[in-house]
Amino acid sequence: MKSKNQRLTEITGLAPVIPVLQFDDADVAVATSRALVAGGLPVIEITLRTPAALKCIAAVAKHVEGAVVGSGTVMTAGMMKDCVEVGCQFLVSPGSTQELIDANKKYDIPLLPGVATPSEAMAVMGEGYEFLKFFPAEQAGGADYLKAVAPVLQGVKFCPTGGLTADKAPDYLALPNVVCVGGSWVAPKGKIAAGDWDGISELAAQASALAR
Ligand code: 3PG
Repeated sequence: MKSKNQRLTEITGLAPVIPVLQFDDADVAVATSRALVAGGLPVIEITLRTPAALKCIAAVAKHVEGAVVGSGTVMTAGMMKDCVEVGCQFLVSPGSTQELIDANKKYDIPLLPGVATPSEAMAVMGEGYEFLKFFPAEQAGGADYLKAVAPVLQGVKFCPTGGLTADKAPDYLALPNVVCVGGSWVAPKGKIAAGDWDGISELAAQASALAR
């Protein structure tokens, strides 16, 4: 049985960008995810910020070949339990409360806990976490901030998320302590609403070609 850190090594190694998405409709979630996978971004985070989110996660897990679907904005132990039940493969939280860390010990599913300060990072490092979400990346100090903590917070890798764009992502991906980045820019709401799946695949292809 692979450890959660081993599974996160594999998942975060699949692509340089994790699209962060929010859906009201399972069919749209499936079509968008197919377009992203076709463009080379198989790891997809669907946030629990809509009433339909769990249904969308379940649909993508079941119907999108090649996708590795995770749940985002996991805030409570109850939300974590729901995500496990619908078949998602990883969890992302904006913060790292003790409730989430304790709950994650009960489930065989890896969690990327959110941190924005060295103290938060040290707390989850003490719990054995090696992969952390840095959120909100741009507002909390950006790539310069992560560069500054790299020599101090050794042994952890970050997935910065929040405010990233195609222009900003390369600065993060060039850092030794960044394994991948997350963001919604690869599937803009306008393109989803227009059903512009080719356009989304194109953005995904550009993102998947980013060096790290
Ligand atoms: C989120 O939780 O919404 C992510 O951090 C994505 O942020 P973005 O929309 O700024 O890319």
